[in-house]
Amino acid sequence: LAKAEVDLASIPEGKNVTIKWRGKPVFIRHRTQDEIAEANTVNVQELRDPQLDAERVKKPEWLVMLGVCTHLGCVPIGEAGDYGGWYCPCHGSHYDISGRIRKGPAPLNLEIPEYTFTEDQLIIG
Ligand code: FES
Repeated sequence: LAKAEVDLASIPEGKNVTIKWRGKPVFIRHRTQDEIAEANTVNVQELRDPQLDAERVKKPEWLVMLGVCTHLGCVPIGEAGDYGGWYCPCHGSHYDISGRIRKGPAPLNLEIPEYTFTEDQLIIG
């Protein structure tokens, strides 16, 4: 199946981009240093789906994940919710700046797809 290629230079720091891959939205966020620090201050033991930020990214400044709420599959909204990340308006799930579920009915963190980096591109798939 087709891979998706994204030019990293096209996504400024502090911005989200959504692309379509295999019929699903993929969220890409170019995280700031403050956001990376915030993602790493969370006490993982308190999370519903305990995952370190480092387990969810290949490069700290690039967060890449499926834009599909793990509750019932709606598309969450970026730069929204109580945890500085994403908010799913369907039933009120809040995800943090690492895409981890923090509040609301979703059982799991936003899923991470397969991806790799080249020098200037992100390749999804
Ligand atoms: Fe996202 Fe229900 S589908 S909270």
